[in-house]
Amino acid sequence: MTIPSQTARPRPLVAGNWKMNGLKPSLKEVSAMRSAVEAGGAGRAELALCPPATLVMAVAELCRGSAITVGGQDCHAKASGAHTGDISAQMLKDCGATYVIVGHSERRTDHKETDADVAAKALAAKSAGLVAIICVGETEAERRAGQELTVVARQLEGSIPADFTSAELVVAYEPVWAIGTGLTPTTQDVANMHASIRGLLVKKLGEEGAGVRILYGGSVKPGNAVELMGVPDVDGALVGGASLTAKDFMGIAGAYATA
Ligand code: 13P
Repeated sequence: MTIPSQTARPRPLVAGNWKMNGLKPSLKEVSAMRSAVEAGGAGRAELALCPPATLVMAVAELCRGSAITVGGQDCHAKASGAHTGDISAQMLKDCGATYVIVGHSERRTDHKETDADVAAKALAAKSAGLVAIICVGETEAERRAGQELTVVARQLEGSIPADFTSAELVVAYEPVWAIGTGLTPTTQDVANMHASIRGLLVKKLGEEGAGVRILYGGSVKPGNAVELMGVPDVDGALVGGASLTAKDFMGIAGAYATA
């Protein structure tokens, strides 16, 4: 399967979410990614790395002036204040970040984040000049019950504040059951979901909704990237485990190198 012409589509984004992984020695992987990108390994795709907060500044320094941007994995809804252990969007921006992931399913589960919390964080990101990567996705039980489109529609409605432009927002569809499991939906299922998300974005944001990048996430690997990235309305990937090494991450980014 080859990827359809990308020219009419937004610039693809392949974002790596390192989750709670990565120490200083991991920076050598970032240097290798930078070299690979400079050698043309990502085509016209933009690459973003979202390392743990402890590495955001170092990764941003290493990637400065390259086609690799940097993001945080979460932010507080407030700009500053008495919130021990939390990080604001402004702080991430100050460290050199362009993006921040909000509403990842692991945070929705581990920290009981609601759609309203996610929307507040997205607004904080916008105020700080960051692009919010808003995550949505159904559980295995919800998919078995045939509720995936309704669940994701509800999450989108509650998590995306009004008046966002396509430059301020990225949506990542990550079915919870596909994260870290090696399982992926069929390309037809991905196509159905992304078409539904596109429709909802246009309904909510008007013309801007057509340009919002919609990423697929959940067990994206070098071996399935071309097939998944070739699905209509898949404008890139949000990659977990396979973003930790330059070899695998560039194997995925390479799905765009020839597009
Ligand atoms: P995996 O790529 O490890 O399945 O993780 C996906 C994810 O949760 C990215 O945010």
